[in-house]
Amino acid sequence: MTGITDLGFAFGVIAETIVTTYNVNGQANAAPMGVTMENLQRLVLRIYASSQTYKNLKSKRCGVVNVTYDAELFYRTSFKETNPNGKLPQEWFEKAETVDAPRLQAAHAHIEVTVANIKQLDAERAEVLCDVKLVQAANVLPKAYCRALFATVEAIVHATRVEAFINHEDREKREQALKLLETIKECNDVVNRVAPNSRYSEIMADLNQRIDSWRAKGES
Ligand SMILES: Cc1cc2nc3c(=O)[nH]c(=O)nc-3n(C[C@H](O)[C@H](O)[C@H](O)COP(=O)(O)O)c2cc1C
Repeated sequence: MTGITDLGFAFGVIAETIVTTYNVNGQANAAPMGVTMENLQRLVLRIYASSQTYKNLKSKRCGVVNVTYDAELFYRTSFKETNPNGKLPQEWFEKAETVDAPRLQAAHAHIEVTVANIKQLDAERAEVLCDVKLVQAANVLPKAYCRALFATVEAIVHATRVEAFINHEDREKREQALKLLETIKECNDVVNRVAPNSRYSEIMADLNQRIDSWRAKGES
């Protein structure tokens, strides 16, 4: 039987996944989230309370942790506005087997979870403890490691914070955004060196345009 350690989860390691949940109106939602393992049956998420995923986990008390290394999925679930009509295509999802949550059909593995407890960490973030109910993995061929995958996902995660901080009233947050922009630039250089003219470089170009538009908003 497949367990979470077979999927790359380990003590003291943050694994980047995509968490899927239902909104109150029944629409499926998905967002990248870092996940740690507390024990073989329990996962821990640290989530911004402002996120839709947090609201859904709190109200529905369940979700699915989807395992994938598809940079496109990370991009389109981070920034919903990159999808047609600004919404996640509902045909991407199917119903989970053991919990009232959607799961991503294209994921390499699914971990269906229920919410055991929610602890407030600070004014912005909460820790969500999840019990593992079902683990399912697809039989997929291995993929050769490409640095552009790492660099693209790294840039996406930083960009989610840049969007939140770049026009923030707090100067420290704005300075943090500027530092993150430097890291994104380094990621961009790696992608354009190892994978020019690829889907990775297209995602980076689109991301850079979005960042320019966030900056312009602050200047107007
Ligand atoms: C690789 C990656 C990891 C992320 N990890 C987290 C996380 O652990 N907690 C969190 O609150 N946001 C995390 N984010 C940011 C959210 O995915 C992002 O804010 C998203 O837009 C939230 O969507 P939602 O409002 O639909 O939940 C991560 C983003 C990426 C790309």
